[in-house]
Amino acid sequence: MEKNEDIIKSLKMYNQEHIIKLLEKLDEQKKTDLLEQLNDIDFHQIMELYENTKKTIEIKENKIEKIAYLDKAKLTKNEKEHFMELGEQVIVSGKYAVVTMAGGQGTRLGHLGPKGTFKLDVYGKGKYLFEILAENLKESNKKYNTIIPWYIMTSKENHKETKEFLEKNNFFGYDKNSVKLFRQGELPLIDIHGKMLIGKNLKVKEASDGNGGVFSSLRTTGMLADMKQKGIKWIFIGSVDNAILKMVDITLLGMAIDRNVQVASKSVIKANPEERVGVFCKMNGHPKVIEYTELPEKMAEEVTNNGELKFGESHIMCNLFTIDAIEKISKEPLIYHSAFKKNPYIDENGKEVIPTEANSYKFEAFIFDSFELFDDIAILRGKREDDFAPVKNKDGVDSPKTAKELYEKYWERQKIKI
Ligand code: UTP
Repeated sequence: MEKNEDIIKSLKMYNQEHIIKLLEKLDEQKKTDLLEQLNDIDFHQIMELYENTKKTIEIKENKIEKIAYLDKAKLTKNEKEHFMELGEQVIVSGKYAVVTMAGGQGTRLGHLGPKGTFKLDVYGKGKYLFEILAENLKESNKKYNTIIPWYIMTSKENHKETKEFLEKNNFFGYDKNSVKLFRQGELPLIDIHGKMLIGKNLKVKEASDGNGGVFSSLRTTGMLADMKQKGIKWIFIGSVDNAILKMVDITLLGMAIDRNVQVASKSVIKANPEERVGVFCKMNGHPKVIEYTELPEKMAEEVTNNGELKFGESHIMCNLFTIDAIEKISKEPLIYHSAFKKNPYIDENGKEVIPTEANSYKFEAFIFDSFELFDDIAILRGKREDDFAPVKNKDGVDSPKTAKELYEKYWERQKIKI
């Protein structure tokens, strides 16, 4: 009882009176459910996140420099062989695991259901994004005579559907016992006045806390312990929506081992200064990815002596971490960025509102904000046509149409190589 009064007090203090009104209208069971949820919400954190949406990020005071990278296409034969040998040893000795981040909302694509259940229209018959990933991993398993443990991060929102989908499709032939699903954390969505949205279930509407949530959720869900128990040393963490993502790149892995770093990442050249991608740099001496929204135009256009963009290595969600790095990051709070998105909600009269324009903030931690916790990371420049076919937007750039083309062309080239 006392606890409930405290919640009401907090709701008043933090400008959430609409929820008090809602509580008054609910039946006992629904009221208890909502109060239970509210008890777990950190109102102060939500208020701080809201205040931060009003601030612009100043990067001027920071010292930003170009970051070093190696170009995969320009490695010497010896270098390449050495890296590949080092990388291969890790895979064949069963010390490698893959994490797929599949907890996103996929709002830009607008597909109903988890993004991994989206069918890319390749080769007439089509393939689901999860199917493409499973096929790629199975191929590596065959090549290295192993079974790579595969961890899939879902959100509370899409967990059930993802699980059912994978089970229904028999994990696309992947060894079931080597696949583990885990849920990421969530944060409330708030409107432009800082009020938490209410969902159809008459509870506060929450959404996954960004792909940076992967580290803490790996730990809190016991996946990190599971990896340790299996003797895993290196973990690849990638997205669900890149149709030609290389989850097992022994050159990247070997390079990381050779450079004695805890984190490595694959990049591709930024197509032009305006491309909407995050780019690698060093900020105040530490590796970092600056989002396109945060990189001043002048810097985005800067070129080096050899005519390349100074900040031209794009981050493509193709990252490797040692298990120690994950453990370390999982205990550090990453900053939250806000994204202004379209989110349906229930209004004060109990009616569902489906907005036609963005109406609310979602708070997300980004996986790459973890890089600055390290002195250095290794970056390997890949090739766009070999490494990056993202499915982000419904049409236009980075859409199913462009990804299909890239996917088919890539596999066409592989056939010719064989
Ligand atoms: P994006 O940041 O592109 O988000 O995710 P998204 O959900 O796919 O698409 P939009 O922005 O809503 O249109 C990059 C990768 O990170 C995962 C996504 O599933 C994708 O693999 N992700 C994103 C999560 O796992 N959790 C999150 O909270 C956000």
